[in-house]
Amino acid sequence: MAIEIKSPKEVEALRVACQMAAETLILVGEKLRAGMTTDDINTIVHEDTMRREAYPAPLKYRGFPKSVCTSINDVVCHGIPGNAVLRDGDIINVDVTTLYKGFYGDTSATFYIGTPSAEARLVTEVARKSLELGIAEVREGARFGDIGAAIQEYAEAQGCSVVRDFVGHGIGRKFHEDPQVKHYGKRGTGERMKVGMTFTIEPMVNIGKFEVKIDPKDKWTARTVDGSLSAQFEHTVVVTKDGVDILTKRPKPLRLSENVSLVLA
Ligand code: MF3
Ligand code: CO
Ligand code: CO
Repeated sequence: MAIEIKSPKEVEALRVACQMAAETLILVGEKLRAGMTTDDINTIVHEDTMRREAYPAPLKYRGFPKSVCTSINDVVCHGIPGNAVLRDGDIINVDVTTLYKGFYGDTSATFYIGTPSAEARLVTEVARKSLELGIAEVREGARFGDIGAAIQEYAEAQGCSVVRDFVGHGIGRKFHEDPQVKHYGKRGTGERMKVGMTFTIEPMVNIGKFEVKIDPKDKWTARTVDGSLSAQFEHTVVVTKDGVDILTKRPKPLRLSENVSLVLA
């Protein structure tokens, strides 16, 4: 399938939805603490999204039962909010997707609860930097394989692995559009990027092996097979004349932890 090119007007409409998602994620960071449940996070995201007269895209998406994905420790992605309590030392990815006036904005971050272990800090920092390096590959004429190669080379050099079973995606009037944006692969392969293409980059990085399994009971929760920690960050981007524009760029720093020195632009 062909990759859509968005007009400048469509990009601006997408940016509005993306900025809403970014603001909701910032709000989550301000409220997160040990003792909260993942349902509490769901309530924060649901209410903040409704207040904006937007819709939380995960809710009822292919049967997903909640308004946000919350993925703790060995959960790679698509964790379902519930009565799980956040504990000191946990890492948790919160993935917010906001539908506003027909456009989807998608962004996520991994947060530290209390004091992280050395492994938790490593996998989280490698995931964060992997996203940054992937975004740095985006420009007119570059190949989608360049993004995957940059991420895989870096993450594996740090002793981590890159999840294969979930990918980034085109985004716009649909939650998931072409292309599939792999977070592994070879430079010089894949389609060439064109001005006006809009897609997410969202590497999932494991401290152990890359294999994942889906929970057979809920059919959503993806966990590492070896039980190792997994972290993820996600932005929605557009290819521009000058390179790349991060549509989910945060209007103020994200509080990654109750430790005030751990903030992220
Ligand atoms: N936000 C996820 C992504 O980055 C998709 C979540 S689908 C859901 O693509 F149904 F689990 F919400
Ligand atoms: Co996404
Ligand atoms: Co997402």
